[in-house]
Amino acid sequence: MTATRPVIGFYSEFDDPIIWRSRIEDELPDVTFDLLGPDDVKEVRYALVWNPPHGLLSKLKGLEAIFVLGAGVDALLRDPSLPNVPIVRLQDAGMGIQMAHYVAYGVLRFQREFAVYERQQASRDWNPLLNIEPIESFGVGVLGLGAIGSRVVESMGHLGFPARGWSVSGRSARPIETLSGDSGLKTLLTCSRVLVNLLPLTPNTERFYDKHFFDQIKPGTFFINLGRGNHVVEDDLIQALDANVLSGALLDVFNQEPLQSTSALWHHPKVLITPHVSGLTNATKAMDQIISNIKLIEAGSKPTGLVNRQQGY
Ligand code: GLV
Repeated sequence: MTATRPVIGFYSEFDDPIIWRSRIEDELPDVTFDLLGPDDVKEVRYALVWNPPHGLLSKLKGLEAIFVLGAGVDALLRDPSLPNVPIVRLQDAGMGIQMAHYVAYGVLRFQREFAVYERQQASRDWNPLLNIEPIESFGVGVLGLGAIGSRVVESMGHLGFPARGWSVSGRSARPIETLSGDSGLKTLLTCSRVLVNLLPLTPNTERFYDKHFFDQIKPGTFFINLGRGNHVVEDDLIQALDANVLSGALLDVFNQEPLQSTSALWHHPKVLITPHVSGLTNATKAMDQIISNIKLIEAGSKPTGLVNRQQGY
């Protein structure tokens, strides 16, 4: 009897399966690459997925690991029938540098008051603003210090901003000052002119940015969200903007995506919106990571980027 070839099953409405197929066939000649549909009942050893419909994974037979084609696993962990096999997520995979640039754009636009110049240009007004806030006192606080948050906070430090990081787990991102717990959060909120959300979405961090949170921040703080929409209570965010508690927000993620056309955020004068593009997965880097992890597992070793289901990331 000949041993059956292991199968890699692929499901994503976002990623191009053709490049994945050709790279996997080149590098893992002993496996078969197959596309997964929601109703397939197949023998699959490794599933490579982004936002599969609930139930798809539980129908697969012989599944040994799930590889997520992204950094966040919140949507996957909400599948009530998720099989109890190791889950491996991407770590950075080209997203960190893009997100660092996204944050740099938001922070510099705010600190250098580029929005004012855009308005001035529209009325041909030549009016240098000479009292912009100095960079030395313009604190940037990053909440969430995973692979991406650490990259973002470090890059803001390199740009000369007093950058601080805060994490639930107390993780360090040396040489940047890192904080945790309630008292650490208080310090972060006192010292920051910009707050950047990069927390993982878990039951503990859902609705983290609510009225209670915004009541504690320094009036005039700018908010950047590139974590998940459900970290934020959007009505409370709008209230904080209207009450001038927040001076503005740059938002990449929303409670519902695509953002509904009826959302007040679209037209809010203090809000800048991008359609969940702050960090796009670099397919080559993602393939490098996943293929090297599959080789590790096949050789009997532990992959990198294993998700802790209890923690939710
Ligand atoms: C994108 O949002 C990701 O989690 O990779």
